[in-house]
Amino acid sequence: MAPTIDPVDFIRRETKVKPVPHAEEIRLHLADEAMELWQKTEDELGALGIAPPFWAFAWAGGQGLARYLLDTPELVAGRKVLDFACGSGLVGIAAMKAGAASCHAVDIDPFALVASQLNAELNGVSMTYQAADITGDEVPDLDIAFCGDVFYDKPMADKVISLLDRLLERGTEVIVGDPGRSYLPRTRLEELADYRVPVIGALEDNEIKHTRVFRFAKK
Ligand SMILES: C[S@@+](CC[C@H](N)C(=O)[O-])C[C@H]1O[C@@H](n2cnc3c(N)ncnc32)[C@H](O)[C@@H]1O
Repeated sequence: MAPTIDPVDFIRRETKVKPVPHAEEIRLHLADEAMELWQKTEDELGALGIAPPFWAFAWAGGQGLARYLLDTPELVAGRKVLDFACGSGLVGIAAMKAGAASCHAVDIDPFALVASQLNAELNGVSMTYQAADITGDEVPDLDIAFCGDVFYDKPMADKVISLLDRLLERGTEVIVGDPGRSYLPRTRLEELADYRVPVIGALEDNEIKHTRVFRFAKK
């Protein structure tokens, strides 16, 4: 019989609760030794079809969005929010702390939703959670959507841009946080803020990344 892994046990065992470097008001279950957990996940969970632990890191794009939300709460106050590709749930948690009416957190990786729920509880907020690839689905009826650090892979970026276009068509505002990944749709973006964000050097080309917050605009 295939071994089963309890996601809550795995996340609690393999992470430490730590403040987010550029949004210290928020604490998350974060990996202590980046490459060790990445390798371990591949070894233990890869055979079960489980993805690398993106949820165990506060990515530069998400940290920029979280900082911007905490400092600009009027953007989300009383509004229905989507945290698309939520990873650890950082952006959604920041939105809820900033006064959003609700947040729907979505990620393709089921472990990310479990981590997001544990992290939301840790920060005294609640969200709704969906483990799915919604890029081809009818868009949810929400006021504002956030995408933190999603433009690192071309097929993914193409699917995300198509979703974001449909969200805009429906009247949903779209805000992106990104440190200049390869497939960032630069011609569609209006800059709102920029930050220098501490990240895990072992996963990036640097210990500090220049990350920006943008409004995604219609074509
Ligand atoms: C670099 S992480 C960013 C996580 C978080 N937004 C942040 O900034 O910390 C990218 C996330 O995108 C998720 N992802 C990849 N493809 C996706 C898809 N089609 N739909 C939803 N999430 C996806 C991954 O599972 C991962 O959690």
